[in-house]
Amino acid sequence: MSFKKSLLAAGAIMAAISVSAVAQAEPEAEVLHWWTSGGEAKALKALKEDYEANGGKWIDSPIAGGGGDAAMTVLRTRVLAGDAPAAVQLKGPAIQEWAAEGVVADLNKVAAAEKWDEVVPPLLQKIVKHEGKYVAVPVNIHRVDWIWANPEVLAKVGADIPTSWDEFNAVADKLQAQGITPLAHGGQPWQDATVFETVVLGLGGPEFFNKALVELDEDALKSDTMKQVFDQMRKIRGYVDSDFSGRDWNLATNMVMNGEAAMQIMGDWAKGEFLAAGKQPGKDFICAPTPTKGGAFVLNSDSFVMFNVDGDDKKAGQELLAELILGEKFQETFNLYKGSIPARTGVPRTNFDTCATRGMDDLEASMSGGTLVPSMAHGIALPGHLSGAIVDVVTEHFNSDMSSDEAVTKLAEAIELAKD
Ligand code: BGC
Repeated sequence: MSFKKSLLAAGAIMAAISVSAVAQAEPEAEVLHWWTSGGEAKALKALKEDYEANGGKWIDSPIAGGGGDAAMTVLRTRVLAGDAPAAVQLKGPAIQEWAAEGVVADLNKVAAAEKWDEVVPPLLQKIVKHEGKYVAVPVNIHRVDWIWANPEVLAKVGADIPTSWDEFNAVADKLQAQGITPLAHGGQPWQDATVFETVVLGLGGPEFFNKALVELDEDALKSDTMKQVFDQMRKIRGYVDSDFSGRDWNLATNMVMNGEAAMQIMGDWAKGEFLAAGKQPGKDFICAPTPTKGGAFVLNSDSFVMFNVDGDDKKAGQELLAELILGEKFQETFNLYKGSIPARTGVPRTNFDTCATRGMDDLEASMSGGTLVPSMAHGIALPGHLSGAIVDVVTEHFNSDMSSDEAVTKLAEAIELAKD
């Protein structure tokens, strides 16, 4: 072989090696999340299996703790240490905050290839885009304002799921008179806040909710309506059992399942728990929106953000994950386990149960009626330092004998301080 020919041959071999090096990128992703309960784990397993079936290596980083507070603390530490996980469960304004730090990957290439602009509802696009670019991939739509109930237990006092807060109190009084715990609750700040925001919506309506919990309007925060909200929270405190403090949300769901309590106020991830335990909607458990003055929907949505990482395998791993999450079939499988509804259009309703289809209908109605509100308790309405200020007061009130007058004053003060 001439020198020139052998050079060419060597060049061809080098080119082949580098093509195969790219082709051989072994996609991998470390996924940081807080999905550790029975239903959550089933949903997550579906994602992991889909990822592995498509050649991805999944490195699991679960940080237990409902609502994700613990996971967010770990995330901050890891990013500061220059060791960001490839994919992180994140939501709402936190997505914008991390994107503004310049530490997250631009997903526009996958988004264009997968036509996200066409299939992701505008409501979610607003959450997952930063300065016009996709920086997160939405995985679901969760509704927060639900009551989950054990129909047999309610039947003991001849009741159905209450449709007003007065009725809620009346049913709870009857249950209590029979020695039954009316409300299964876990005394953790985010769970107190979950109940609180449904009461704000229920007693104030969506406009008040927005004024108080989104715009943080001082008059709304100190209003008589807000005092009534704290009065109702005080009543609710009387309807939980004496062991509520610190209880995880899924253990509270178990209490409803086992007939130890009648109801739980919780987002539809609670449905994932009932389903994981083999319970059937409409038979073993029932669902209804928490009482409101006419159709509203408290929105929560999980997404994954890909943090900047080095290495072809990791980058390929992020792309693969982003692509799979919004796939039509995957969206169906995942959301059926998770209790949520799909984050994209085009997924047939057929396999979704009545709680989910009720959620889909109410979501549409609330969007057209202007009554959709973002969850404060689940990080959609406000950045963490502001929602944290509200949650602290709500929890302090719930766990003390603070009056409603004092609570609204503290609420307004806490917001003022947090805004500075
Ligand atoms: C998340 C859900 C999760 C729940 C309990 C919520 O904030 O959006 O996905 O199941 O917390 O951990």
